Amino acid sequence: MRQQGAILWLTGLSGAGKTTIACAVAQELQKQNYPVELLDGDIVRTHLSQGLGFSKQDRDINVRRIGFVANLLSRNGIIAIAAAISPYREIREELKQTTTNFIEIYVDAPLAVCESRDVKGLYAKAKAGQIQHFTGISDPYEAPINPEIICQTDRFTVEQCVNQVLHYLETQGLIIGWHMLSENK
Ligand code: ADX
Repeated sequence: MRQQGAILWLTGLSGAGKTTIACAVAQELQKQNYPVELLDGDIVRTHLSQGLGFSKQDRDINVRRIGFVANLLSRNGIIAIAAAISPYREIREELKQTTTNFIEIYVDAPLAVCESRDVKGLYAKAKAGQIQHFTGISDPYEAPINPEIICQTDRFTVEQCVNQVLHYLETQGLIIGWHMLSENK
């Protein structure tokens, strides 16, 4: 049977853990020989979306571009994993409606936790007024209302989140014969 593609769409605040989970899921699927491609907001913005900023209009263009490429990949049997803040619900819904096997994964960590992690030092800059339109500080984030998966990264380990995602893919028949990762392995 031909491998079915899918779009795993990770949305959430900066620092919530989207890239970390996306990479870990990709690695696990690759180990099991599934064809996977990663579309990370930070990387996409260095080429496909180079020059775009963070106004609503530019973010919408960025998110639609990522969705467009993810769709090309998934309809050719690839599991496309997108990790972008994608703060606007309407655009995510649009992608859900216009693609197949679109799986919305809300990478959820409280703003205070993301701020305290401040991996890239951007929250400090945003709070000091050095970066405008920063999601969660001076720009909105519209959390998903009915996502397929919620990964609470302040309560669960990366491995537990990966298990959650792979378990869901198995229940949907998108992967088969998957065994839960065990921390004792
Ligand atoms: S999205 O809103 O268009 O989906 P995307 O995920 O591609 O955003 O890019 C977000 C990344 O850009 C953040 O992880 C951060 O490193 C960087 N960034 C720079 N300025 C901002 C800003 N104003 N708001 C959010 N992220 C920003």
